[in-house]
Amino acid sequence: MGAPAVAEASEGRYNPAKSLNPQILYLEEIPAMAIQRTFSIIKPDATRRNLTGKVVARLEEAGLRVVAQRRIQMTRAQAEGFYAVHKERPFFSSLCDFMTSGPVVVQVLEGENAVEKNREVMGATDPAKAAPGTIRAEFAESIEANSAHGSDSQENAAIEIAYFFSQVDIVG
Ligand code: CMP
Repeated sequence: MGAPAVAEASEGRYNPAKSLNPQILYLEEIPAMAIQRTFSIIKPDATRRNLTGKVVARLEEAGLRVVAQRRIQMTRAQAEGFYAVHKERPFFSSLCDFMTSGPVVVQVLEGENAVEKNREVMGATDPAKAAPGTIRAEFAESIEANSAHGSDSQENAAIEIAYFFSQVDIVG
């Protein structure tokens, strides 16, 4: 074994077959595709204007797959629990009023880097700052009535998905 192989062996990466056949691409060398799930809400301002399909089309065109979806009327308790992280913010009460003002569509989206991709497709929270072509730039009415919610991290995606869906609801 040469020096690099010794180093690989000590790190548990040594593959004797690889040193015999350097032309062969081994499975562990192919970069893994980061297939993730994220949580999304189509908000009351969008459902009121019959934009559910248009929002879903944007998500699908970006390569995200809807693997769970339900149209619900959120209760006040659900909205307050979901947005609990914002409960000290001045807009918290108004946000909960808004989120319970009409139906929402809760979704689980799946795809490569789904958390980040969904946030790109949605655009910035404030539609005035959202990039042209994003869901919020195209459809949002205001910083509060901003048509869509998307998880901001994989950790929060798991928590938010579990808040509205059980495993049997999700069919990938
Ligand atoms: P969302 O991505 O669902 O996360 C929190 C929500 O709070 C946000 O989208 C907006 O709907 C709302 N929000 C955030 N900032 C403000 C603000 N400054 N004023 C009113 N609503 C806000």
